Amino acid sequence: MSKNIAIVGATGAVGQELIRVLEKRKFPVGSLRLLASARSAGKTMKFAGKDLPVEELKEDSFSGIDIALFSAGGSISKKFAPIAVKAGAIVVDNSSAFRMDPGTPLVVPEINPEDIKKHKGIIANPNCSTIILLMVVAPIHRINPVKRIVVSTYQAASGAGAVAMEELRTQAGDYLAGRDVKPTVFPHPIAFNVFSHNSEMDFENGYNQEEIKMVKESHKILHTDDIAISPTCIRIGTFRAHAESIHLQLRDPVDLEKVRAALAAFPGVRVVDDRKKNYFPMPLEASGEDDVLVGRIRHDIGSSDGREMDMFCCGDQILKGAALNAVQIAELV
Ligand code: A2P
Repeated sequence: MSKNIAIVGATGAVGQELIRVLEKRKFPVGSLRLLASARSAGKTMKFAGKDLPVEELKEDSFSGIDIALFSAGGSISKKFAPIAVKAGAIVVDNSSAFRMDPGTPLVVPEINPEDIKKHKGIIANPNCSTIILLMVVAPIHRINPVKRIVVSTYQAASGAGAVAMEELRTQAGDYLAGRDVKPTVFPHPIAFNVFSHNSEMDFENGYNQEEIKMVKESHKILHTDDIAISPTCIRIGTFRAHAESIHLQLRDPVDLEKVRAALAAFPGVRVVDDRKKNYFPMPLEASGEDDVLVGRIRHDIGSSDGREMDMFCCGDQILKGAALNAVQIAELV
């Protein structure tokens, strides 16, 4: 049965991709309402060969809507998601506003689809770095429980939205032309640079909010607090795919063949792991791909008991890290 869909934040980096993912996956769309700020009202965007108008998001925007896909930031979600639910819509929210609310399911469809059933109107889409991490950790956790994760991220500009991608493009041109580089979206130059993630830092423990999200959200999605997780989140000057270097400590000794087989069999994961050709996951090759790419799968040579392993993955932050995951959730409601 076809559904009437609204996209809140349709003009943003994730919003634009939501439109494409609905098209590509042939989602049964009855009607599509594109919502954004007053700045975008009157623009048109293409869906299924037709030009659709962008409307200003208002309190009465949700009448007749079955599913509302939100990607316009936490404050918009906090205000408008309950309004959409009241109007009868089911909300799939890409912001962090409701993720840790005990009554709101937080879902990666390949990992915990059963949680969707518990929703009370809102289903939260996890943080992009968390989704990409768990897509390659969950298959291993199922065959040999994970006890500890140490992860370092290499995060693309897209996580901070379309304006951040534009900042990277502009700065790259300025830098190469020898002009001054002026950061506005990020606190530091993003082109040709690497810096600690720009989310709020807890001065007591030295972790930033992105890192704390990865810890808390992973526990919620995997239904356990028993995995010790220490992330280091880093921004790099790539456009739209996040990379992550992952160290795992497992309960039992690591059987690499079984790990590889579990990863290869997991939907949405592709093993790219050719040691002879030095060919492993790269952000450029993960960009535009639905699958999370994983490689560098190896024993930790420093491990004394054979229970530790390492790997490296890349996933498109806008697709599996956001829009694709949200549409997959919508397909299940
Ligand atoms: P607009 O393009 O009109 O500013 P991104 O994550 O790429 O930065 O995109 C943010 C999205 O959220 C855009 O679609 C943006 O619309 C939308 N947005 C921002 N502020 C508002 C608002 N006050 N009301 C509705 N949509 C908003």
